[in-house]
Amino acid sequence: MVVHNGIFENYLDLKRELADEGHIFNSQTDAECIPHLIESYMNNGCSLEEATRAAASRIDGANAVVVLSRKEPDKIVSFKLGNAGGIVIGYGESEMLLASDIAALLPHVRTVAYLAVGEMATVTRKRVQYTRIDGSAVKKSTARVSYGALTATKGEYKHFMLKEIHEQPDAVLDTLRGRVQFDPPGITLPDFPFSDDRIRSFNRAIIIGMGTSLHAGMVGRMWIESLAGLACEVDNSSEFRYRDAVLDENTLVISISQSGETADTLGAMDLAKSRGARQLTLCNYEGTQSTRVADGVLPIRAGLEISVAGTKTFVCSLVTLYALAAYLGVKRGYLSEERLANIVQELLHLPEMIGQLLSDQSQYERLALKYGRRANFLFLGRGKNYPLAMEGALKLKEISYIHAEGYPAGEMKHGPISLIDRKMPVVALVPQDDLYEKMLSNVNEVKARRGSVVAVAAEGDKHISEKADEVIWIPKASANITPILNAIPMQLLAYYIAVERGCDVDQPRNLAKSVTVE
Ligand code: AGP
Repeated sequence: MVVHNGIFENYLDLKRELADEGHIFNSQTDAECIPHLIESYMNNGCSLEEATRAAASRIDGANAVVVLSRKEPDKIVSFKLGNAGGIVIGYGESEMLLASDIAALLPHVRTVAYLAVGEMATVTRKRVQYTRIDGSAVKKSTARVSYGALTATKGEYKHFMLKEIHEQPDAVLDTLRGRVQFDPPGITLPDFPFSDDRIRSFNRAIIIGMGTSLHAGMVGRMWIESLAGLACEVDNSSEFRYRDAVLDENTLVISISQSGETADTLGAMDLAKSRGARQLTLCNYEGTQSTRVADGVLPIRAGLEISVAGTKTFVCSLVTLYALAAYLGVKRGYLSEERLANIVQELLHLPEMIGQLLSDQSQYERLALKYGRRANFLFLGRGKNYPLAMEGALKLKEISYIHAEGYPAGEMKHGPISLIDRKMPVVALVPQDDLYEKMLSNVNEVKARRGSVVAVAAEGDKHISEKADEVIWIPKASANITPILNAIPMQLLAYYIAVERGCDVDQPRNLAKSVTVE
């Protein structure tokens, strides 16, 4: 029996060869070819391990495979080719476990190891032997997982997503722990891999990621520009990996992947490495592939996240990026002591402000009843909150299956405004920053076309309550920190609408928690 994740690129050639040998196929899948290939070697006298090794060496493409055979029932053999799918091995008491994701192992084990690309594991009840596919030995170190088994249960919550949303104040505290000093104000990143000279040599940064991690990167870019004075671009990993990016050793590539196993981000990191860029990765899990490829890791410390929709990993990625931008600003001599002191002061209150946003959720239930049956939504934001509009739209579409688009509000007049009518709810992010007046006029434009506006605005903003149909209030905060706070209403709105529509919140259709194939 074979469990397969990936794409077996040359399977048609091998299938023909195996069919000629007499193997009978019952499907058109590439996966079915793998057990036949292994069986063919076993028929010629190979052990399960030898046959799997021989088969692995003939498979092209990125594939993660687990193999069992009735002929050797006390053994599981697994291998990983290219960046497809994680294989995590859990060390239990008198038992060994294999899974594609650490979440499945957590109720049973705390010590794990990850298979790297080109590696094989032969697992028996009490031990595991690691080799490369060419047969050479591998010395593997294990990682101790600090999240308790309890975190893999829903507890009092109806869904993991809601539980994970509620965990955000504590998760943010963990992210900040040991990184922010209040007296005197300072940011330290003990995990930071580059010397001060190296930091000063960087002439640009490029942030890469997918989905929610990309949206975190879009905000991170603006912080790096404004707090560190470093030119910064942001790109979707799946685009970056196939374009002719110009990189050198003075380019800092920052990848964001909570899972550390997203195939496109790993592909983009491989490209960056081959072109000599220096690499930093933000990740939630120690020992995953992205942490092995990068020169250094900034753990986001969100704790285990099970729901497919990323929530606390998004917020913790944002907080880590904010701290990183301030750190780079200090090291580059760009951030004044006064600005740093303000940043630190506000970070001190961040968990409390997030807690405040979570304290009463009745408004979201009401909004879900009012708007949950609409077919389309628009999300609008500007500046650092434009990526939050994208994130709000992504959260809503992935778990409630409502079509939603996130736009920089300035784009409205260039097309999307023609969509506005009385059936269109528009979620407008209207923090009191230097783009406030511009956002207000976007709200006016929507109202003039009879759209409904759900504004997300700072407490005490009287203008907005006169204009919008609904207002979700966020605590007053600096412009820099509003994207972190605005993440919470985006999550709760999507969550309650999905519940109202009876959707499978934690496991939306067609989606996987980590996308390990491109
Ligand atoms: C998040 O809600 C999504 N499920 C998805 O966009 C995700 O953020 C993306 O696949 C990237 O995952 P990563 O952070 O593990 O690389």
